[in-house]
Amino acid sequence: MITQIIIKLQVEPHVRQIGLHFGAINDKFMRFLKENMSKIKKIGVYTSGGDAPGMNAALRAIVRTAAYRGIDIVGIQHGYNGMIKGDFVPLGPRSVSNIIQRGGTLLKTARSQEFMTREGRAKAAANLKSQGIEGLVAIGGNGTFQGATLLHDEHMIPTVGVPGTIDNDLYGTDFTVGYDTAINTAVEAIDKIRDTADAHDRVFYVEVMGRDAGFIALDVGIAGGAEYIAIPEIEENFEAIRQKLTSGGRQRSSIVVIAEGCFKGGAVDLARRMSEFVHLHYRVTVLGHIQRGGSPTARDRVLAAKLGSAAVEALLHAETNVMAGEINGNVVLTPMRDTWEKKKAVDNSLVELSQVLSI
Ligand code: F6P
Repeated sequence: MITQIIIKLQVEPHVRQIGLHFGAINDKFMRFLKENMSKIKKIGVYTSGGDAPGMNAALRAIVRTAAYRGIDIVGIQHGYNGMIKGDFVPLGPRSVSNIIQRGGTLLKTARSQEFMTREGRAKAAANLKSQGIEGLVAIGGNGTFQGATLLHDEHMIPTVGVPGTIDNDLYGTDFTVGYDTAINTAVEAIDKIRDTADAHDRVFYVEVMGRDAGFIALDVGIAGGAEYIAIPEIEENFEAIRQKLTSGGRQRSSIVVIAEGCFKGGAVDLARRMSEFVHLHYRVTVLGHIQRGGSPTARDRVLAAKLGSAAVEALLHAETNVMAGEINGNVVLTPMRDTWEKKKAVDNSLVELSQVLSI
């Protein structure tokens, strides 16, 4: 059974409240870690999965907090692939100068097939041990944290996660690093699309990222004044769009925001099928990877700084196999497995609001 204890730690002023979650099964291991972790001398950091704006700001915070605490820190390049290949680089406070404003990731990233195998993870663990790396900070999304969970369970490597993905689909944090930048990029694009949609009285189907979750689409659709927002969390999107675009002989421009993964065949196929019912000219825009790049917003940089630093502090205080997230402004540690196994729900009141406002 998982127990949750919220305690206040006087560690650093910015780590105000930490929720400790652990199961009875791990008590012995937790005790062992608590007794030994203060002796930690060297940690590793990596970015993995889809890059997100603000990953560099998180990396900077992690490296500098480690340096402040007198801990050696090693960068693992190209995510889990680099862990398997031994692609390590020593980092210091100056190696992360001038990156806070940059999108992408200095450490590079990858989606690793080999790490999905037990053999791959064993190679990675052996490399970490040969480098004297005693703990890890992982920056990424649900695939990254699935990998970290397995590495911890199979090789007992203490790991703390920092949520870095534009999708905002991780349980245990209100927002992920990169989300704010991505939605602002998408809204800027939709504002421009609206100009041309209006000039031609066309329907625009705009597909946004978010894999299996509707967070990006919902916020972007509301901020961009969309006539309809299709998200995977809602059923019957097709019929609802058809009704919206044909009601009252509607003959004016409309923006329909669609979360990728909402329709098989994406926005292009949806638009083609919809044209049987909606007799207005239409165009499709797939915003795609433009949403993943660019300089992080101030909000993403602050979140990255806060959670990156908290992750190092947590590791030094014997927390392991958890993600440092932010809930109601507080840093909260959530078991790593929960972050990808539990489903974070979209705000239903926002779904209703979007329907009211698109009357
Ligand atoms: O998880 C981030 C994300 O951008 C998703 O929104 C998208 O589905 C996916 O990554 C695309 O992945 P890639 O192009 O890196 O294979």
